[in-house]
Amino acid sequence: MKVLAIETSCDETSISILEFDAKKRCRILANFVYSQIAVHQPFGGVVPTLAKREHQKNLVPILKLALKKAALLKKRKNTISSKKISIIKEILARDEILQQQTLDFFTQYQKPQIHFIAVTAGPGLAPALWPGVNFARALSFYWQTPLIGVNHLEGHVLANWLPKEEKVWQKINISPKIFPALSLIVSGGHTQLVLIKKLGHYKVIGETRDDAAGECFDKTARLLNLGYPGGPAIAKEAAKFQKENPFSIQLPRPMINSKDYDFSFAGLKTAVLYLIEDLKKKNVNLKKLKPLIAKEIQDSINEVLVKKTIQAAKNFKTHSIILGGGVAANENLKFLLANEVKKQLPKIQLFIPETKYTGDNAAMIALVGWLKKKSANINNWKKLEADANLRL
Ligand code: KG4
Ligand code: ZN
Repeated sequence: MKVLAIETSCDETSISILEFDAKKRCRILANFVYSQIAVHQPFGGVVPTLAKREHQKNLVPILKLALKKAALLKKRKNTISSKKISIIKEILARDEILQQQTLDFFTQYQKPQIHFIAVTAGPGLAPALWPGVNFARALSFYWQTPLIGVNHLEGHVLANWLPKEEKVWQKINISPKIFPALSLIVSGGHTQLVLIKKLGHYKVIGETRDDAAGECFDKTARLLNLGYPGGPAIAKEAAKFQKENPFSIQLPRPMINSKDYDFSFAGLKTAVLYLIEDLKKKNVNLKKLKPLIAKEIQDSINEVLVKKTIQAAKNFKTHSIILGGGVAANENLKFLLANEVKKQLPKIQLFIPETKYTGDNAAMIALVGWLKKKSANINNWKKLEADANLRL
């Protein structure tokens, strides 16, 4: 069974094709992630209208690349009936560039051997989600292939079970013994602690009240002129820190001692802003202090994340902790979490995704789609909508 997945929730246009067999094995036939970082970099963050335009421009070319890599792209001249053309035009009415490219694609290539299509329905930026959803609807309609909408955050959780290498078969072994599980989802848009009683049963037990952890990395990196995306930039700068530095800086650890599982990172960003203003007033060479500040920002965010995660895992007596989302690429976070799990919860299993699957990708969407394949339906193209605020 081959699944085609599409992910456009933020600033990555991603299309993947995964194959599954009857023994619950999976192999990745193609996984293309086109990052728009260069487009958004000059603005210091994701510009939703630009993200939309980029997705519209790139979906068809990336689909062709993915199908080609999976040996599923076959040329054939097709004549599309005027009725079908008008339905496709209606589906893609608000995506003009995509509309023309999609019609051209349908006239040039035959229907590939895909069993169903999975697409990220939310959460994410509405202008970014829609082109992906509408494109998936158009493909589903024209190919008469079942369609399923997938929650992006569920993708981040399950990215932990993707095959480590492309083209290699790997058993999808999500043991019931890992439940109840606790997932820490940390990305540019979300910071959530999620209790998972069993696969597909999610309960958000805590989340950020303002900025997400990734957003805090991005915003503080911008204050330090370290560029976008801020997470990797802060991590790189923090790595330059040397202990013999004569200065010391103490940033707050927001809500670290609160009794709930919520987070708040907006105050940390403000503290960094005041710190920089103060240092500038005192004519301190900021450039020299950047590694120290970056390290303190990283420590502050990660210490709060880890403390709350361990606390929640203890209180809910979970059998495992599952890390997911873009910030899961942070080496310091992985190190701290692994250390604390080893010290305080040695019996539980810790899942950390491969770095290549921490950021947004369609492979994780295909995997969720496959696990929920019963909900894939040939008529879903008629009603599927993007939902920027979709909850787990
Ligand atoms: O999951 P993701 O790719 O997109 C969303 O769904 O938001 O996460 C992107 C976020 C960005 O805020 C980025 O700065 C952060 O993940 N990120 C990192 C690292 N790599 C990416 N944060 C900290 N350390 C990293 N190495
Ligand atoms: Zn994400």
